[in-house]
Amino acid sequence: MHMLGVDIGGSGIKGCLVDTKTGELIGERHRIATPQPATPAAIAHTLKALVEHFDWKGPVGCGFPATIHNGVAKSAANIDKSWIETDAEHLFADVTGKPCYVLNDADAAGLAEMRFGAGKDRKGVIILITVGTGIGTAIFVNGHLLPNTELGHLMLEGMVAEHYCSDAARKREDLSWNRWGKRFNKYLARLEFLFSPDLFILGGGSAAKLDKFVDRIETRAPLIPAASLNQAGIIGAALYAAEQQG
Ligand code: BGC
Repeated sequence: MHMLGVDIGGSGIKGCLVDTKTGELIGERHRIATPQPATPAAIAHTLKALVEHFDWKGPVGCGFPATIHNGVAKSAANIDKSWIETDAEHLFADVTGKPCYVLNDADAAGLAEMRFGAGKDRKGVIILITVGTGIGTAIFVNGHLLPNTELGHLMLEGMVAEHYCSDAARKREDLSWNRWGKRFNKYLARLEFLFSPDLFILGGGSAAKLDKFVDRIETRAPLIPAASLNQAGIIGAALYAAEQQG
C-alpha cells in the first residue's frame, strides 16, 4: 500500500509517498518551510499545500512535535503554544479534505525503525532518540511502543535536557562535536540509569553525524544510527496511517 507520510517540524514540513509494505520512499521527498508563527491554521494550510503537491487523494499520516492523545496535541515545547488542546486530526482533515492520523514525531520515527530499520526483530528495551530542535524519545519493549514519552524534558545539569544537548543547543552555543558529545553522553547515561535499555537508536539530523562524537559515548547499551536517518519520521507516519485505516 502507498501512503503519504509527513513529518511536521519546527523549521520544515517534509512529506513523501511511502510503500508501507517495504518502508521505502516512493519518488522525491518534498519540503516546505514551517510557517512562522507556526499556528494550527498556518500549519494546516502548509499541510494542504503538501498534499496538493503530491496530488494525493488518500489518507495522510503526520508526525507532530508534541504529545498527542487521540489526535489532540497536549504539549507545545518548540511550537506555537496555541497548539495545546488543538484537535490536530480534525483540523488537518477539515483543511486538507483527507483523513489524517497524527502521532508524536519521535514515536513515528520509532515505529519505522522497529519495523524496517535498526530495531527490526530486536527484543528487549529499545530507546529511539531524535535529536534536532528538541529531543524526542520513543521507548519500545519487545517491539511494543510506550507512546508519548517526553524524555527530552528530563532535567540534566540544572537544565531541561533538550536545552542542554539538542542539536539546536550545539549550534546556539557553537559547541565542538567533542563537547557536545560529552553532554549527549551524560544524557544517555541518565537514560541508561533510569531504563536499563538494551539498545539506543539515534534518529533526527544528528544520526548522520554519529561518527563525529561516537568516541565520547560510554554507555553499556550500544548507540546506533537509525537506518533511515532523518526519513524515519516520514516513513513511520505513513505506517501509522496505514495501521489506523486497518
Ligand atoms: C517535544 C516532543 C518531540 C521532540 C522532538 C520536544 O520538544 O516535547 O514531543 O517529540 O521535541 O520534536
